[in-house]
Amino acid sequence: MTDTIFLGIESSCDDTAAAIVTGDRRILSNVVSSQTDLHADFGGVVPEIAARAHAERLDLAVEQALEEAGLSLRALSGIAVTAGPGLIGGVLSGVMCAKGIAAGTGLPLVGVNHLAGHALTPRLTDGIEFPYVMLLVSGGHCQFLRVDGPDDFTRLGGTIDDAPGEAFDKIAKLLALPQPGGPSVEAEAQAGDPDRLPLPRPLLDRPGCDMSFSGLKTAALRQRDQLIAAQGGLRTQDRRDLCAAFQTAVAEVLAEKARRALAASPAPILAVAGGVAANRQIRTELEAVATAAGARFLAPPLRLCTDNGAMIAWAGIERFRMGHRDGLDLAARPRWPL
Ligand code: KG4
Ligand code: ZN
Repeated sequence: MTDTIFLGIESSCDDTAAAIVTGDRRILSNVVSSQTDLHADFGGVVPEIAARAHAERLDLAVEQALEEAGLSLRALSGIAVTAGPGLIGGVLSGVMCAKGIAAGTGLPLVGVNHLAGHALTPRLTDGIEFPYVMLLVSGGHCQFLRVDGPDDFTRLGGTIDDAPGEAFDKIAKLLALPQPGGPSVEAEAQAGDPDRLPLPRPLLDRPGCDMSFSGLKTAALRQRDQLIAAQGGLRTQDRRDLCAAFQTAVAEVLAEKARRALAASPAPILAVAGGVAANRQIRTELEAVATAAGARFLAPPLRLCTDNGAMIAWAGIERFRMGHRDGLDLAARPRWPL
C-alpha cells in the first residue's frame, strides 16, 4: 500500500510555509519563508503587507517543497492548509492556493486549525500517544491544552491578554534591544540579577491556569523609567537585570501554571511548542515541573515548534485518517477556538 503523503500550507501570520510529510512521520521537505525583514520597521506584523507577501510567495514555496521532496503533485494523497485562526488576508491566501491545487488535481483538501497543527506536532516528531498536556507559547499564542485525540482538545487555561513572546518583544523594544525580542532578552538576562528590580507574578494568586503578561510589561516600563529618572539613563547592567527579572517572572508563571495543569489533568507527557519554548530558563523550569509530576517533558526541535508547513501537513494527515475532507467551500476563519 502506498503511504499517505500530504502537502501542508501555512500562512496565518508572518511565515509563508509549505512542506511535504508522509503518514509514517517522515518530513520530506519543510520550506519556511520568513517575512521578519518586511515588518521590522513597523514594530509588529502589518496584516496588509503579510497578505501580499504570502500571495506572492506561496506558489514558490509549494514548488520548492515539492522539488526538495523530489515529488510531483501526482504523488500526493492530499493537501492540508491552515484555515484559521490568524490574520485573515494571509489565511485566505493559503486557502485559495490550496483550493487551486485541489481543483486542478482533484486531490482531497483538508482544512486545519493552526493551533491543532502546533498541538499535534509531538506526534509527528516523537510518535507519542494520547493523552498529553501541551503548552503553546509563542508571539501569538499562550495556552495549556489537554490533547486526547486528533480532534479532541480541552483548553485548561491561557493568557487573558498578551502572549509571552509579544511581551518579550515589547520589553526588547523598551530597552532598545534587537527584534525578535525573545533571543535578545535571553542573551541580556544571562548576565543579569533577577532579584534587583522586582517584577510581579500576575495571576499566581488566582486558582486555575489562566495567565496575564501585559501587566508585567507595564511594571518593567515603570522600573525602566524610575532608573532613567534617577540616573539620567540606563546602564548596561540595568538592562541585564531588567531582562533577568522579566524572564524569571515569565518562567515562574509558566512553571506554576504548568504544575496546576498537570495536577488538574494528569498525563504522562508535558509537551511545549512555540517560539518562546526556545528559552532555556523557561524550558528548564517546565522540565522540572514535569519531572516532579512524574511526566516526560518533550520539546520538539525549534524549527517544528515555530510556525511551519510540516505541522499542518501532519495535522491534515491525522484528520484525513479520521475521514475528514473539505470541499472548495472551505472557509478562512480569523477566529477558530480549538
Ligand atoms: O512561534 P513563533 O515563531 O511565532 C508565533 O508567534 O506564532 O514565536 C515567535 C515569538 C517571538 O515573540 C519571539 O520573541 C519569541 O517567540 N522567542 C523567544 C525566544 N525565541 C523566540 N522568547 C523567549 N526566549 C527565546 N529564546
Ligand atoms: Zn503559531
